[in-house]
Amino acid sequence: MFCLENLDIENIKTELRKNLSEKRYAHSLGVADEAVKLAERYGADTEKAYVAGLLHDYMKEFPPEKMVEELKRYGVSVNEVAKSAPKTLHGALGACAVRERFKIDDDEIYDAIFFHTTGKANMNILTKIIYIADYIEPNRSFDGVERLRKLAYEDIDKAIVLGIDETILDLVERGLAVEPNTINARNYILLNSQRNN
Ligand SMILES: [Fe+2]
Ligand SMILES: [Fe+2]
Repeated sequence: MFCLENLDIENIKTELRKNLSEKRYAHSLGVADEAVKLAERYGADTEKAYVAGLLHDYMKEFPPEKMVEELKRYGVSVNEVAKSAPKTLHGALGACAVRERFKIDDDEIYDAIFFHTTGKANMNILTKIIYIADYIEPNRSFDGVERLRKLAYEDIDKAIVLGIDETILDLVERGLAVEPNTINARNYILLNSQRNN
C-alpha cells in the first residue's frame, strides 16, 4: 500500500532537479514550503502539501508539442482550449507522471498537481492550497503579490478568485480562450460563498 512516510524525498528532489532549471527547482521548493504553511493554517495534511508542492511542476519543461500525445498514453483526454495552449497541460501530465514514476498513488496529490494550472469546480483543500501557493511562494514578485499573500491566509477562496480574475483578465487582454475548468472554479466559489453569506 502507498504510504507517504516511505517516500524518499531526497531521491525525489534529485529526479526533480534533472527535469527542471535551477530557477524552477527553487520555485518548486518555495511552493512546497508555502503549501506546508497553508496546510497548517487550514488544517490540511502537511506531508501531502509538501509532496504536491514539490512536484507540481515536474513536467513543466516537457516539450509542449508532445503533451497531448503523452496524455493520450495515460488515457487522459484534452479539451480544445487546453490544446490551444498546450503548456497548461503540464499540470495534467505532471499528475500522471508523478503517480507512475514515483509510485505516489494518492488521489488528493494527483488532483492538486493535475488542476494547479486551471483550477476546477469544487476543489478540495489540497488543490486550493497548491493553486494559491504557486502564486505566492517567496520567489514570486508581481504587482499585488503582497495583497494576495495576505488574503491567502485570511480567506483562501477569496484569494483563489482574485488569482483567477487576474488570469482571466490577462487571457482576455491577449485575446486568448479561457479554460472551462477555470471558469467553473470561479463560478463554484462565488456561488457557494454567496450561499454562505
Ligand atoms: Fe505549473
Ligand atoms: Fe509552478
